[in-house]
Amino acid sequence: MATRMKLKLKTVFVLYFMVSLLGLVYALMQLGQRCDCTEHDMPKDRTISRLRGELHRFQEQIRKSEATKQPQKQPAKPTIFVITPTYARLVQKAELTRLSHTFLHVPQLHWIVVEDSPHKTPLVTDLLVKSGLTYTHLHMPTAKDRKLQEGDPSWLKPRGVEQRNEGLRWLREDRRAQPGGDNQQGVVYFADDDNTYSLQIFEEMRTTERVSVWPVGLVGGMKYERPVVEGGKVVRFHTGWRPSRPFPMDMAGFAVSLKLVLANPESCFDGDAPMGFLESSFLQGLVTMDELEPKADNCSKVLVWHTRTEKPKMKREEALQAQGLGSDRAVEV
Ligand code: UGA
Ligand code: MN
Repeated sequence: MATRMKLKLKTVFVLYFMVSLLGLVYALMQLGQRCDCTEHDMPKDRTISRLRGELHRFQEQIRKSEATKQPQKQPAKPTIFVITPTYARLVQKAELTRLSHTFLHVPQLHWIVVEDSPHKTPLVTDLLVKSGLTYTHLHMPTAKDRKLQEGDPSWLKPRGVEQRNEGLRWLREDRRAQPGGDNQQGVVYFADDDNTYSLQIFEEMRTTERVSVWPVGLVGGMKYERPVVEGGKVVRFHTGWRPSRPFPMDMAGFAVSLKLVLANPESCFDGDAPMGFLESSFLQGLVTMDELEPKADNCSKVLVWHTRTEKPKMKREEALQAQGLGSDRAVEV
């Protein structure tokens, strides 16, 4: 009896062992099998791996094209030398700030700022240092008898004359000292500190061969003044006042090539020129009407404006000052 029991137990044990072994073998076989896991796979994972593949291909393409690319030699743009006369008044810092921000957007620009002052002022010095622009800071006071006095109408005497001439003097001297001498690429533009300049006007003037011209908006009591172009040539001028002047144009309406400025070392602005003849006094020794190069789509676009800033009223400031309560003088405006 005991022996039969022993046998049965042994059989059960062997059977149990066999079943477990078979289970184990099956499980091991499954592990080695490739499973069709499409339905488990997340679409997100597939997208990621597809994108990884594409990225890799793009990186390869970039690497290959970089390796074959020759370093491209861009011809250097001619530098634009902008000469700006400026004088101390309440709005000076605001005007120069706005102007400097325009110029920051213009490549290859050298700003020549000429203060109408017996010395360089801290306000302009500081503004230029912080401007981030390439600049030259000069000063030249207007002779007392030539300077507009408080209350004079603005047309009585020409403005900015000695300053522009000082800018020209510096430019000629500085350029002579550079390699290339008189044969240097460059453009000279006279930018008053209160006008409004589009960025496009600088790209238009950059290709000036001798003297280029274009319209000026809001000037001479008109919506715009401009050279009239026929067959690609300037034939006359659209202006409301003395069109017979040699060059009836505003200072903002032309640029001169550096070569022409250097080739004519005596050319400058004549402070004694009659009213409205300042621009002509400089240009008539340099160019003829026939030679003018019309820009801004044959002078059909206004890209610069002769804006003027209102003189701020100081009535309340003065009233407070009389009571010893004026604005802090240490605060620069
Ligand atoms: C117009 C023209 O646009 C000027 O280019 C020209 O010089 C002037 O007339 C003129 O006939 O003399 P307008 O707006 O009347 O200009 O003149 P402002 O803008 O008052 O002055 C022209 C430039 O000279 C400015 O950059 C200004 O800062 C400077 N300026 C003005 C001085 O350096 N000193 C002054 O006493 C006055
Ligand atoms: Mn002005």
